[in-house]
Amino acid sequence: MSPQSESPKSPDSASESSEGPATPSQATSPATPQATQLVSTGRHFDRPVATVNLPLTRASSVLFETLALAEAEGTAAMAGEVHRTTYATSGTPTTMALMDALAEIEGAPHRCRAAIMPSGLAAISVALLAYCKPGDHVLMSDSVYGPARTFATTLLERYGVVTEFFDPHIGAGIDALITPQTRVVYLESPGSYTFEIQDVPAICRVARARGVISMIDNAWASPVMARPFDWGVDVSLLPLTKYWGGHADLLMGAAIVREEHWLPLWQAVRQLGICVGGDDAFLVLRGLRTAQVRMRQHEATALTVARWLQGRPEVASVLHPALPSHPQHALFKRDFLGSSGLFSFELKAATPAQLAALCERRHHFKIGYSWGGFESLIMPAKISALRTVRPWTGGPLVRLHCGLEDAQDLIKDLEQGLAAMAAAG
Ligand SMILES: Cc1ncc(COP(=O)(O)O)c(C=O)c1O
Repeated sequence: MSPQSESPKSPDSASESSEGPATPSQATSPATPQATQLVSTGRHFDRPVATVNLPLTRASSVLFETLALAEAEGTAAMAGEVHRTTYATSGTPTTMALMDALAEIEGAPHRCRAAIMPSGLAAISVALLAYCKPGDHVLMSDSVYGPARTFATTLLERYGVVTEFFDPHIGAGIDALITPQTRVVYLESPGSYTFEIQDVPAICRVARARGVISMIDNAWASPVMARPFDWGVDVSLLPLTKYWGGHADLLMGAAIVREEHWLPLWQAVRQLGICVGGDDAFLVLRGLRTAQVRMRQHEATALTVARWLQGRPEVASVLHPALPSHPQHALFKRDFLGSSGLFSFELKAATPAQLAALCERRHHFKIGYSWGGFESLIMPAKISALRTVRPWTGGPLVRLHCGLEDAQDLIKDLEQGLAAMAAAG
């Protein structure tokens, strides 16, 4: 009898012995009189109620009526068939709903599939592991997210995969760096902290012609502001921790891939036991309902703050691709649908004490890593160890994430920060 059809009220006869309740030393009796009832009560699978949101599934085991059905499901899940699961590591209704949504939002009209992982960094590292083998060569943009770079130069290298960094401005020139061993070209546009825009379509055209998989970290723009599969990428990596969660209360990442690249990724995800819980998947599904509206607000606020910073005497430059002063603004306008809340500015000069005075004790801009939530964040960039091809030669860099506060309040906050910076000089 399946648990669905058991009566939740059936008494536990073993616990109702005529000799009275069992003592703990009587090993044949359950530990509590309600043991069976505790397992089955309240599991009413026959009372559907129409709600706006999907019901949340929290699960580990998945149940089957017969052994044959369990086996058939296992074979289908291993083969990467959609919506097939024998265990929550392969999916539950909640995680599968999120996987479907991501494949559609990021991928459509291209035929794509999505896998979800416990963080954005996990999505990056698992995707690289999935497609590379010992002896392979990876080409990685010099401006990628620092921990992606560290993964490539440490763990990935230990497994015999060599990573070479390239100038983010390389465009179709990537052709000269591709060798017979090159397996992946890894991109991020705009780049972390320095916000270089890459000519992704040109790089992808070359990669495809040379049989190399192209991957991009689409964290900054998200599918609201960029369509990487239209640019020709094969794998798009989305840290859902950022704008898709949107509330700084969860960690998750996704790898969205063209269907022909699905199986190696899915097998790596399954074999590594990478999965996420229903609660967090539910929160990301909730976050994506409002992502478009939040992104447009982050964009507007960040642009207002960026333009204000451009007029400040302490600021040497503002690194925001949607500003006409950005060196690759034309590429940005050609490829992107808009911008987000994250950008950097370069100070003409600042001592460490002045940087601290600028960032500390702000009302709205809090010191913190990550970004993409409703809150504003500030962080000086320490990138000297993170660039080998194009070292940063400018002044001190500060990265801002503009949250959903009023732009004028954020400007006032920075005005006070710049005054504190001057006073600390
Ligand atoms: C550009 C970029 N990609 C990936 C990540 C990693 O995401 P997560 O924090 O979910 O691991 C981050 C995190 O800050 C990031 O900035």
